[in-house]
Amino acid sequence: MMKVYSKSELNSYHLSLTYDDISLVPREISRIVTRTEVDTKTEFLGVNLNLPVVSSPMDTVTGIDMANKLDELGCLGIVNRFDSSLEKVLSNGSGSQGIKAVSIGLTADESVVEKIAGNNWILCIDTANANNETVLKKTEEIKKKYNIKIIVGNVASGETLNDLVNAGADALRVGIGGGSVCTTSVQTGIGIGQVSSLLDVFFAREKHNLKINIIADGGIKNPGDVAKAIALGADTVMLGRLLAGTREAPGEVIKYNDQLWKKYRGSASFGVKMKNEFIEGEETMIPYKGSVENVINAISDGLKSAMSYMNRFTLNELRKVESFAVLSNSSYLERLPKK
Ligand code: IMP
Repeated sequence: MMKVYSKSELNSYHLSLTYDDISLVPREISRIVTRTEVDTKTEFLGVNLNLPVVSSPMDTVTGIDMANKLDELGCLGIVNRFDSSLEKVLSNGSGSQGIKAVSIGLTADESVVEKIAGNNWILCIDTANANNETVLKKTEEIKKKYNIKIIVGNVASGETLNDLVNAGADALRVGIGGGSVCTTSVQTGIGIGQVSSLLDVFFAREKHNLKINIIADGGIKNPGDVAKAIALGADTVMLGRLLAGTREAPGEVIKYNDQLWKKYRGSASFGVKMKNEFIEGEETMIPYKGSVENVINAISDGLKSAMSYMNRFTLNELRKVESFAVLSNSSYLERLPKK
């Protein structure tokens, strides 16, 4: 009989694993009759969400429109730090009713942080590596001065979780090298599978009994991956590519080869940096998807259906799943629809 892994067994698997390497294994008689009975609501950093979905603070993913629309849909958008209208919104609050979170870089002005705190928004310190003295210091400084929730990132394992929590981090973006436009792993050799990263942080949190939210960031390609991330214990998922290419994402719709497209690019790509410093991100075109509402509905349906298979009425129940399979390469391929 195939081995069914608990979280802890999966965490000690001898290889690094990512979403495509595993499957949820349904093992109970489900008491759920229809998908409408399951509840995908979750509380995240003081915000009540209908779905555990957070948008990535990338310049081709989350601007003001995306943040407002996601808020309307019960998800959380984090406005990117490059957004040109951010300053205006920060100053006079106009069009900002739906904004709940904003990202900053390490060199952000004190006045920006003050305004974010004044608006009661969540702050995301957007860096490639949270395990860095400067990030810890910045988090500590802001926490001392303001009553504010802080998201930091990114990490690929849980060894430093204590330090991050002590510095005042309320949520942590987990994932290095897994983003769909990320070239970190090829450029630096750093980046393990998302499943292994998530479990390592999850067990570090459990071991030290820490209070910090886990955000599964990068590499999520479909609703099934969202279900897997939550079942692995993540509090929320962070999406880039899945939300890019939608009407609400920043940027123009481009017509090329009789098809409509929108640009999607990494935060460390040349297009964002506009200088020839070290590049760790790519630029690409995504087929235009229409409103982000379609994407969010598809994620919601997929997640609810997963919960129904797994006999889980709430996300907290889903987070306690202890039955995972590791897929052989051919069983992975067998599961995909054929043309
Ligand atoms: P995706 O959903 O797989 O497209 O991944 C999105 C995530 O990729 C973001 O939330 C970041 O954590 C990560 N990311 C964004 N831009 C870059 C980059 O330029 N280099 C490496 N990682 C990036």
